[in-house]
Amino acid sequence: MQTDVLRPSIQVLLLAALSAALAACAGGARAPGADSADTDAAGDSDAAGERAGRDSPRIDELLGRMTIEEKLGQLAQVAGVRLPLEESFLAPIRRGEVGSLLGVAGADLTRRLQTVAVEQSRLHIPLLFAHDVIHGYRTIFPVPLAEAASFNPELAERSARVAAVEAAAGGLHWTFAPMVDVARDARWGRIVEGAGEDPYLGQVMAAARVRGFQGRDPSAPDALLACAKHFAAYGAAEGGRDYNTVDISEAALHEVYLPPFRAAVDAGVATVMSSFNEIAGVPSSGNPRLLTGILRDRWGFGGLVVSDWASVKELVAHGFAADRADAGRIALAAGVDIDMASGIYGADLPAEARAGRVPMAVIDRAVRRVLRAKQRAGLFDDPYRHSDAGREKRFILAPAHRAAAHEAALQSIVLLGNRGGVLPLSPELRTVAVIGPLADAREDVLGPWALFGEPKDAVTVLDGIRRALPGARVVHERGVPIEGENPPGVAAAVRAARSADAVVLVLGESREMSGEAHSRSSIALPGAQEELARQVIAANPRTAVVLMNGRPLAIPRLAARAPALLEAWFLGIEAGGAVAEVLLGRRSPAGKLPVSFPAATGEEPFYYNHKNTGRPASHSDAFSSKYIDAPLEPVFAFGHGLSYTRFEYRGLRVTPAELDARGTAAVEFEVANAGGRAGAEVAQLYVRDPVASTTRPVQELKGFARVELAPGERRRVRIELPMALLAFHGADGRRAVEPGEIQIQVGSSSTDIRLRGALRIAGQRVPVSDRAVFSRASVGPPAAVGPVGPVRP
Ligand code: NOJ
Repeated sequence: MQTDVLRPSIQVLLLAALSAALAACAGGARAPGADSADTDAAGDSDAAGERAGRDSPRIDELLGRMTIEEKLGQLAQVAGVRLPLEESFLAPIRRGEVGSLLGVAGADLTRRLQTVAVEQSRLHIPLLFAHDVIHGYRTIFPVPLAEAASFNPELAERSARVAAVEAAAGGLHWTFAPMVDVARDARWGRIVEGAGEDPYLGQVMAAARVRGFQGRDPSAPDALLACAKHFAAYGAAEGGRDYNTVDISEAALHEVYLPPFRAAVDAGVATVMSSFNEIAGVPSSGNPRLLTGILRDRWGFGGLVVSDWASVKELVAHGFAADRADAGRIALAAGVDIDMASGIYGADLPAEARAGRVPMAVIDRAVRRVLRAKQRAGLFDDPYRHSDAGREKRFILAPAHRAAAHEAALQSIVLLGNRGGVLPLSPELRTVAVIGPLADAREDVLGPWALFGEPKDAVTVLDGIRRALPGARVVHERGVPIEGENPPGVAAAVRAARSADAVVLVLGESREMSGEAHSRSSIALPGAQEELARQVIAANPRTAVVLMNGRPLAIPRLAARAPALLEAWFLGIEAGGAVAEVLLGRRSPAGKLPVSFPAATGEEPFYYNHKNTGRPASHSDAFSSKYIDAPLEPVFAFGHGLSYTRFEYRGLRVTPAELDARGTAAVEFEVANAGGRAGAEVAQLYVRDPVASTTRPVQELKGFARVELAPGERRRVRIELPMALLAFHGADGRRAVEPGEIQIQVGSSSTDIRLRGALRIAGQRVPVSDRAVFSRASVGPPAAVGPVGPVRP
């Protein structure tokens, strides 16, 4: 017994030395945008191992000793666990036929299971424990869509870091996040899990979240392996219906849906998940062009590909595989290394391999990737490093984590409207009516995918107002349920509104109305909430409406009626405190919408960076591209978000006015706080390429800067814009920067453009790689203007 317990420690010493040697051989990443070829492999150690086709002697030695069942077992991910642990669950682990577990967490439980794998299996290979840690583990942060509204990648990185610290302390090694799918159709319930409709913002947030989850060293005891999902174009499901068919152009694939994945790969993401959907007839889990051609051969990804839940088995339902074995063969050959939850790799492929229908080299390649991931997570050094009850107690829900969640919630709030200065509310209020079905919704504020969150940890808006105004009388009325057409409580709500100094009316969706398998055919405010709003606002015009929702809503009437409208999404456990702080003006709201709000569901897919068409929408031309029963403009535009202060923009300079495709322009301007309160403005840089060899969007976000300003203060913003960022997928199938004029727009939202300029790209059309390129923003004193450094495309 004693010897068994010691065995892993001996491995620890040996393997620590081996991993150090391996890391030293790995080679560094190249500078972003430094390539001009199509193939530009990433430089992490997994990629180096993959390219060289060799591994640490430990991995070689293990592979040499494994049976077919043990190899395919490493590729099998088993989902869920029943407690108490049953022998039927433990036996395959003991036989070495399970490589990873999904849906198991907790330091004690993971330690028990790890002991079975490491001490009782023949080859002592540790298990990987994976879970969906999407926006926090126990300390629940704002949903990712909300956090994207902060336009603050450092904030997103920090929240992913906190999630990793807690989840790792809870025994996990691997999170199925970040979700980096661009979503242009708000009916799709999973829009809540990503960064919204814009590929550039999506890239920035994808890279930030990968950095946050994995930290500087994914083998550290407080780091997780991240997973960029769902590869690819899952967000383009027809009609926004989850799991539906995707049929998009090559240009849309390369310009809209792939860029955030590329950014995640460039940021060193350890794993990628193949999506449920097909693209043009090929389901992702059986798509070699996607999983091998683009991801590995072109991008140089050396990590691990896991299928989405049972999507290997679903190749049969797609009509792409004849039976389970066929599905397994197709998926493995395409590049799916781990079969999540289908049970096919473990159960059906051993016989296929023995019959020679699955080449051993293909199996070995996938097994190496799994073992490398385990090595990268540090599991060969210490398989129990994440299963530490002491760390679990110390880190989970730590005060510093709650403070980070609070700041994230504050920065995610978007002030949509504020007519007549209803907000901020006076701190002198004596009676406040807090009304609405979400006013005290302790579970809903956590949002979807808060698997380890506990409602008892959450601060609701009602709690927040009570705490912020201890001397006031705070009356609570639910009014109506979230859904259902029979509004029993409206009269009481109206009475409460009438006798209050101010009303906070909290409306929206339940947390079950977005997320996986929760698409809606209408994105209107559900149930009788519009009617509640009408009557409450009529009873008391000092009403601030607070929205909680996992997608943009079609609320033109509410937007027109509400004296003030605050978008609070699902902000996590600190929701109520943050909302109260903003309502009372202790913090000026500074969030900006990462998605457009249309007037009607029927306008979806609705996104700001659309094409112009041959007949651009026009009020004066009936034969232009528009609906006869909807306005041309969004109700709230992408990038929109007000403040309690007022910002002015001036002094745009674009230098040089002419440059070649490899150059970098400096876009400089000044932002001033012309109001009486401190605030932050997210200044946005958009471009338009008016004439090109393929049509270009009417606007594209290419940079932004968050500027904090005291009243009366001015600052100079400088955004370095590499021309490589203007490259697009040409009709010849190649990505290139084209010569010609580029319009520059700087403003407070996509429709509130304050400054306009232009530049000219001279010379030839220059092919560039699709490596993620970012603009670089800096905020300095008013007159600071520096030289532009060379940035290679
Ligand atoms: C299915 C979802 O699509 C995916 O996002 C998730 O990571 C897996 N289930 C595992 O829970």
